[in-house]
Order: sequence, then structure tokens, then C-alpha cells
Amino acid sequence: MKTAFAPASVSNLNCGFDILGLAIDRPGDEITVAFNEEKVIRIVSIKGDNGKLPYATEKNTAGVAVQSLFQHLGEKRGVDISIHKKMPFGSGLGSSAASAVGAVLAANALLDNPLSKKELIPFAIDGEVIASGSRHGDNIVPSLLGGFVLVRSEHDIVELPVPKSMYCTVVHPKVEILTKTARDILPKEVIMSDAIHQSANMGSFVAALYQDDMELLARSMEDYLATPYRKSLMPEFDRVKKAAQYGGAVAFGISGAGPSMFALVIGQSRATQVGELMQKALSSKDIDSTLFVSKVNEQGARIL
Ligand code: HSE
Repeated sequence: MKTAFAPASVSNLNCGFDILGLAIDRPGDEITVAFNEEKVIRIVSIKGDNGKLPYATEKNTAGVAVQSLFQHLGEKRGVDISIHKKMPFGSGLGSSAASAVGAVLAANALLDNPLSKKELIPFAIDGEVIASGSRHGDNIVPSLLGGFVLVRSEHDIVELPVPKSMYCTVVHPKVEILTKTARDILPKEVIMSDAIHQSANMGSFVAALYQDDMELLARSMEDYLATPYRKSLMPEFDRVKKAAQYGGAVAFGISGAGPSMFALVIGQSRATQVGELMQKALSSKDIDSTLFVSKVNEQGARIL
């Protein structure tokens, strides 16, 4: 029997829609796999989901990810999968991705690690596709590998430097936004000037991390592709952004498809202060929220 922990992740990071993400320390999911006699891959227990997740293997991100891995390896044995969800759904924190990542990491460990973490990426993405309907690795890859990652393609991953003392503050307002809704609101085509701004920002974001230049990083983290269309779905986006900026955040934005919002902040105490200010901006409008403050998690998913 093997159990893996897979952390939550913050994707897009404004300038990298569908291609950039980072891992945080918590929350995260715990997935346990154990061989069974029946030679089938099945979900035997799901905790912490309020009854929302499907038990059918082919409808569950963890189940599909393990099926895909076993098929690739020609593995004929079966496993029982137990899922302990420790993060909210529809939160923008890569919940479905974490379950797929935890499942493939635990299953690979059970088989004595035939594949490296990087080689597990396509199978975890196969699981994530069931939940999001689209094949993007910007939650899967940071949850699996940790750190800041650029997903040029699922076979071409760039692990970016993590600035010292960089913290990620995440505030999750207690409202649910379906990823599908947040994707459907986006235009099907972008105008040339927006594409130019976005690619300039993406390039300078990468340079800023290599040069440890937080001012350039702040200027680069502006989004032309998703945030302008999605911010109306987020509760009090402008108010929360102002609060984060007032607190001294380097950058602020929507985490994944939302409704969680994140800030990148230098130093732990400032990161906590920024989070409290963001929460206050929401509570002044009677919106409850949960705060997570963590260093950028450089380890990613791990066997417990
Ligand atoms: N990059 C994705 C999005 C993350 O923003 O829609 C959610 O799956």
C-alpha cells in the first residue's frame, strides 16, 4: 500500500494562461492505492468531498489517471484507490489535478517506481481532462514537480527559479465557480495587440525570475487573455486587488479559473498581512473566505 500527498497549485499566474503554475504547501489531497485480488482498478473510498465525486473509475480523475498509467505499462494487476480530499472543489486551486497527481504518484510507487515524476505527467493529465474537458498541464505539473513551472508542452517542461523568500498568499472566497463557466466566458480569438502584450509579459516574467528582479516580475504579471473577461465572475476582484497592493504584494491575480485569488509576496509576515487585508476586503461585503499562506512549494507531490 502507498499513500501520496499532492499539493494545491496556482495556475496561469496572469501572464501564462494555461501554461504557467506554482505549487503551494497546503491544502492538498491524500491518495492511497493498494493491490486487490480482483485485478480491477476501482475507487473504494472518497472522504472530504461532501458526496460530490463519482466512484465510477472512468469518471474520476484519480481513476482515469491510474487506468492510463497501467495501460501504458501493460500492468494487469488491479488496485483499490482511496481518495481523501482536503481542498475545496471549484476553487481555482487545482483540486481535480491534485487527485490525479496523487493517484499516479502512489500507483507508480506501488509498482516500485518504473517511471520518473516527469514521465508521469501525461497520465495525470489524462485524468485531469475528465474534470476540465481540456488538456492543459498548468495545475498537474506544479502539483507533481513543485516550484514555478512553464508547461511549453506536456513533454517539454521548464522548471523556473523560485525567488528566495517568495510566499504565495491565497484567499478562497466561499463561492463556487465552475472551470467550464470560466472558460466559456473567454473569447475564441484574441486581438493582435493583446497577443503581443501577453507574449512580452510572458518572456519578461521568465527573465525576471532568472534575474531575481521583483520590479520586472510585478510589471510582467499583467493578463490580457483571461482576467479582463473573468474578473466579473470573481467576488469583489478590484477591492481585493487594491487590498493586496496596499499590503505590498508583488503581484495579484485570479488563481486558475477562480474564485480563489492569489498574491505573490516577499516575506512570511507580509504575506500573512496581505492575506488578512484581502480577507477584510471580502468580509466588508459579507463574503466569508479561507486564507492559505505558504512558501512556493519546491518539492511537489510526495509519498507519505
Ligand atoms: N488554466 C486553466 C484555466 C486552469 O484558467 O482555465 C483551470 O483548469
